Amino acid sequence: MSIVIVHGGVETSSSLQFREVLRAAALAGHGALEAGLLDAAEEAVKILEESPLFNAGYGSVLNRDGDVEMDASIMDGTTGKFGAVAAIRSVSHPVSVARLVLEETPHVLLAGQGATDFALTRGFLPVDSRSPGMVETWQRARDRAKQGLSQETSPFTGLPPDSAKPCDTVGCVVFHDGRLAAASSTGGSFMKIPGRVGDTPIPGAGIFASPNCATACTGLGEAFIETLTANYVDSLVKKGLHPQEAAEKAMARLGERRAGAVGGIIVADHQGRFGAAHNSRSFPVALLVKGGLSESFIPRKLN
Ligand code: GLY
Repeated sequence: MSIVIVHGGVETSSSLQFREVLRAAALAGHGALEAGLLDAAEEAVKILEESPLFNAGYGSVLNRDGDVEMDASIMDGTTGKFGAVAAIRSVSHPVSVARLVLEETPHVLLAGQGATDFALTRGFLPVDSRSPGMVETWQRARDRAKQGLSQETSPFTGLPPDSAKPCDTVGCVVFHDGRLAAASSTGGSFMKIPGRVGDTPIPGAGIFASPNCATACTGLGEAFIETLTANYVDSLVKKGLHPQEAAEKAMARLGERRAGAVGGIIVADHQGRFGAAHNSRSFPVALLVKGGLSESFIPRKLN
């Protein structure tokens, strides 16, 4: 029995174009399951990093200086092994670098220039991760700022409403024969101060996997870090809550503790049960159970 769930982030469009890439990612994850759970989670996230539609890899938002800095992580629930990169630049697949950190270094998290250098010395080719749509959005926002014009922006992605495409972090949870894994990748928040790191590479905050359950979160990273939301979901499932109940309770707690914090959560547990909840306008996901895509699964929207 296997389950692959991928999400495309809060506020990301749920239109067919986006849903098709999410489905392709879930299928890629399932196709890699034979190689292992980490392969499945990594392959699913790689599809989303390649797409300019999502805020990860090639579609990443730009920071204050017009550069892309990305965070990514991957966690094996069975072994508890974790690998992550933060504020990495110029690589197409931060999630694959995170996996290399997990498997081939004595560390769990590499950041900044050190992370980029590590990737390049391990054979990753330098790439320009700035997609034309994001460059245009950044230039418009910068021009408005130069003219002293303020602009309303999304409180979680930081993107202005005229952005080419509202989008957010991506993530994946995988269940297979009682074992679990999770992975996540992001460009972080638009116009962030260079060096800012969100919840995606912080275990227990934006991601967690244990023998008990696998969780991937998205939304306002600072709120997920301060509330250790992924760890909270794990503790609820350990107490016996269904993953759906746990996701909803964790979203409610996030809203109580950080007013206005927006987010979304996907969870799978060791019994092959799953859940998803969010409090944003949209939170597209794709779910694959036993190799078959499920069209009926819709994350629960909380007010
Ligand atoms: N949730 C992604 C970030 O805040 O960086």
